Amino acid sequence: MVGPPKRHFLFLFILSLCVLLLYSYHHSSLLSPISSETTTQFPHHVSTTSDSFTLTIKVLTFNRLHALSRCLRSLARAQYLPGNPVHLHVFIDHFVPSNDSNMDQKLRESHKILGFVDGFEWKWGQKMVHYRTTNAGLQAQWLEAWWPTSDNEFAFVVEDDLELSPLYYKFLRSLILNYYNNASNSSPHIYGATLQRPRFVPGKHGNKLQLDGGTQLFLYQLVGTWGQLLFPKPWKEFRLWYDQHKAKGIKPLLEGMVTTGWYKRMGERIWTPWFIKFIHSRGYFNIYTNFEHERALSVSHRDAGVNYGKTAGPDSQLLDENSLLSNLINMQPLSKMKWYDFCFREVLPGRVVMNLDDLGAVLHSVQREQTILLVSLFGASEMITRNLLCHFERLNIQNYILMGPRSDFLFDLARRGHPVLDADQFVTTFGVYRSLGFQESNAMLIEDVLVKAYAIKKSLECSYNTWVIDGNMLFLNTNLFLESIDSAYDFYTGESLELYYVKSSPSAHKIWTDTFLNDVPALVNKVLHSKESKSFAYMMTTLLEHKGFRVKRLNEKSFGMKIGDQDFNQSSLDVSKRLVYWPKDLSMDVIHKQLQGSSLWNIDEDSSCTAVVCHKS
Ligand SMILES: *[C@@H]1O[C@H](CO)[C@@H](O)[C@H](O)[C@H]1NC(C)=O
Ligand SMILES: *[C@@H]1O[C@H](CO)[C@@H](O)[C@H](O)[C@H]1NC(C)=O
Ligand SMILES: *[C@@H]1O[C@H](CO)[C@@H](O)[C@H](O)[C@H]1NC(C)=O
Repeated sequence: MVGPPKRHFLFLFILSLCVLLLYSYHHSSLLSPISSETTTQFPHHVSTTSDSFTLTIKVLTFNRLHALSRCLRSLARAQYLPGNPVHLHVFIDHFVPSNDSNMDQKLRESHKILGFVDGFEWKWGQKMVHYRTTNAGLQAQWLEAWWPTSDNEFAFVVEDDLELSPLYYKFLRSLILNYYNNASNSSPHIYGATLQRPRFVPGKHGNKLQLDGGTQLFLYQLVGTWGQLLFPKPWKEFRLWYDQHKAKGIKPLLEGMVTTGWYKRMGERIWTPWFIKFIHSRGYFNIYTNFEHERALSVSHRDAGVNYGKTAGPDSQLLDENSLLSNLINMQPLSKMKWYDFCFREVLPGRVVMNLDDLGAVLHSVQREQTILLVSLFGASEMITRNLLCHFERLNIQNYILMGPRSDFLFDLARRGHPVLDADQFVTTFGVYRSLGFQESNAMLIEDVLVKAYAIKKSLECSYNTWVIDGNMLFLNTNLFLESIDSAYDFYTGESLELYYVKSSPSAHKIWTDTFLNDVPALVNKVLHSKESKSFAYMMTTLLEHKGFRVKRLNEKSFGMKIGDQDFNQSSLDVSKRLVYWPKDLSMDVIHKQLQGSSLWNIDEDSSCTAVVCHKS
């Protein structure tokens, strides 16, 4: 949160962040449909300043000479460019020693592989061979393959049963130049690119993997192990994260993911569950290609080995030099690309509401059945907010906007696809705000009230119903929205809970806009100097009733459960209730303990959701 002492420094930092976000906001596919596209002819792309980087191919092999030779030959046949070294590192795992009679056979196979690699000529850079003394397994082969020594160094990891297109290198180079080296078209949240055909959605009950033919590049959270390019910074970050979690005995379990089942069966023999858990927690993305007719720049022959009991054959068609697409890949700007999560649900990053016009567009995109949920994050901690969002995901609540003070946390939520309203900015767009002459200590309250009041106005103009809630409650189901509403009223308030509902109707619109909004600043001023409750719901109710309008009281005890009073746990949880809530001043420890006791604490030690919950969209 932005605190007074550091305000100036933070302001500068946030300002620059904001410019970036504004940029991506205005270019998001939601608000500005794709209008122009840039096309790069990648084999001919020559840039002068920013094209210095090192690529190292990390070939992981074990005991499949036939596969390895096919793989290395495809790498050697590819088109490279003079002046850009491409190194080749081959990691040869060792067999597990045993007493069986095959020992001599195994030794001979290993030595044949070494002989082949020794004789293999690599003229595009250095060749390095790492022959292990013991069996490392696929996890260590991947993880130990690379520790970046600079931010300009990239690793392209290739398992030995892959075969690469002759165009693969030019494509990778073009990706690095366009999406990493170009500062105005890169993101620290992209961890690399895979050349394999997209074919798998790991979230259970996720969407079908469907893309239109015009989409050649897109972003997807899932790692693609058949030809994965790794960017240095996220990979280092992952290695440190892995280290920490491994050392503390924390397992990479992520409910609702097929890959967690793999982990339960294969354990430490594979590495992807670790990486997936890390990516989920950070909200990172991978670049994927999509070529028609199941073609790709890298194919897996799926030979028998750790991943396949018996040979399954190539998964895709390899793109060759002669394919039509070969010279023409549409390197769209990032802001125009589509982003997908583990459920293959489209993520819309960068929706940051700064003014009423923005709000109109976002309200329209998120409303469900003409209803909006406005969630105030004023006073809610980051952990509480993240837990709340995990509940939204579980209940498939998507019609919300998170409003809160400007902070990097708020912007990070927007980056991850949650629509947010920057209250600090939004409020300055109203003349009344400047006229209030508030003090620092009151700023938050005034902002909270004004933003809610104006957001409701906008929602009414768009004919949407609006729920206003705070971060100190969790829904147990979505019935609250349907059942509480009695057609005789336009306005509803929780009795003590910060819960407020405005039904869309011509009368509500008229009251709010004509007679009411103008009085809000005066009311805020009055309340600030009195001992009255400073809750938004309370203030609005007082004002409306003072003017003779009716407000329906919602008795939260009838549909909600308050925690904090007694030992609240699973057995005291009444599932027929609609929500649980707690007093704003309840300590974090108690909230955590009691929510955890009743299985409502759905975040892990990294403050990320313990589950991925997919809903068909
Ligand atoms: C091989 O067999 C010997 C004796 O039969 C035994 O002591 C040793 O532990 C075995 N080694 C392995 C790796 O199984
Ligand atoms: C960097 O990316 C931006 C946005 O896509 C683009 O307009 C610009 O031409 C790129 N610069 C270079 C040097 O490629
Ligand atoms: C759960 O709470 C009830 C009171 O609401 C209490 O009687 C019971 O012992 C608690 N159970 C646990 C496991 O703490």
